[in-house]
Amino acid sequence: MKNYINLSDIEDLQQTIAEALQLKKENTAASLGKGKTLGMLFFNPSLRTRLSTEKAAKLLGMEVMVMNADKDGWALEFEDGAVMNSNKAEHIKEAAAVLSQYCDIVAVRAFPGLENREQDEEDKVINSFKKYATVPVVNLESATGHPLQALTDALTITELQKTKKPKVVLTWAPHPRALPQSVPNSFVEVMQRMDVELVITNPPGYDLNPAVRKDTSVVHDQDEALKDADFVYVKNWSSYEDYGKILSEDKSWTFSEEKLQLTNDAKVMHCLPVRRNVVIDDAILDSPNSVVIQQAGNRTYAAQVVLKRLLSARPPKGE
Ligand code: CP
Repeated sequence: MKNYINLSDIEDLQQTIAEALQLKKENTAASLGKGKTLGMLFFNPSLRTRLSTEKAAKLLGMEVMVMNADKDGWALEFEDGAVMNSNKAEHIKEAAAVLSQYCDIVAVRAFPGLENREQDEEDKVINSFKKYATVPVVNLESATGHPLQALTDALTITELQKTKKPKVVLTWAPHPRALPQSVPNSFVEVMQRMDVELVITNPPGYDLNPAVRKDTSVVHDQDEALKDADFVYVKNWSSYEDYGKILSEDKSWTFSEEKLQLTNDAKVMHCLPVRRNVVIDDAILDSPNSVVIQQAGNRTYAAQVVLKRLLSARPPKGE
C-alpha cells in the first residue's frame, strides 16, 4: 500500500480485517515505527480520528506530530499557477514537500465545503497532498470519503456477525446541520466488498452519488428497509442531488425503540459524534444493542493496520 486515500487502496480487504483483529488481540507495541514520524494535519475538528490514529502510531513505535492546520498553519493555496497576492500565504507544493522532510507518513483531514459539488468531488486537499508529498498520505476524512472509519465499521461487523451473510441497513436520520456524504459513501463502498445483504434507506432527495451506490438497493420506506436487519448503521447526510442542502428534518426517521422492533434485534452503529434524541434516541444508545463504543474503539486497530502496511511498504530512509 503506497497511500490510504480511498478504500480501493486496500486490495485484500478480508486479510486486512483479519490482520487488524489480530493486532487488537495482541495489543502490544511494535518496533516497526521506531525512528519514524507521523504528521497529522487537521483542517476540521476531530476526537476519535485524531486520538485513535495517534494511539495506533504509538503502538507501532512512531513519533507523532499534530497540527490544527486551519488555526495554526498558513492559509494554503491549492491552485497551480495562482498569483498569490491575497490571503493565502503558502502553496501546497512547498507545504507538502516540507512536511515530507519532517514526516515519514502524512495524514490529513479536510471536509467538503458542501456548496459546489464538482469542486468537492475533486477532493483537492487530500489529492494535492498525495500529488506533492514524497511520503505516504493517509485520508483522515476528506470531502468524499472516510476510509479509516469504513475499515473500522467492517472490523466491527466482522467481530459481531452471527450469520454468514448478515443484513446490513444504512439509514439516513435527521440532523440540524448539513453534513458531508463522506461516511455513508465509504460505508457503502466497504459493505459492497463484504459478504452482506446491503440496503440503503433515505427519504427521496437524499440518494447518495450513483457512482457510489452502483447496484445497491435503495428503499425510501425506512420501516420496510429495517425489516430483519442484523446491523443498522444510522447516519445523517446532506442531499447529493440538491447538493449540500437539508431537505428534511423528519423526526419519524430518528432511530428509536419502535424502529429497533422492526429489526432482527439489530446491532446499532454510528461513527460518532452523535446527536442524542435527534439522530438516535437515548433508549437505543444506552441499550446493549448499541455498539458505537466498540466501533470507536476499533478505530485504533483500523489505523494501526493501515500505518503498519504503509511502513512495511516503505524502503528505509537513504535507499
Ligand atoms: N468518526 C469520526 O471520524 O470521529 P471524529 O470526527 O471525532 O474524528
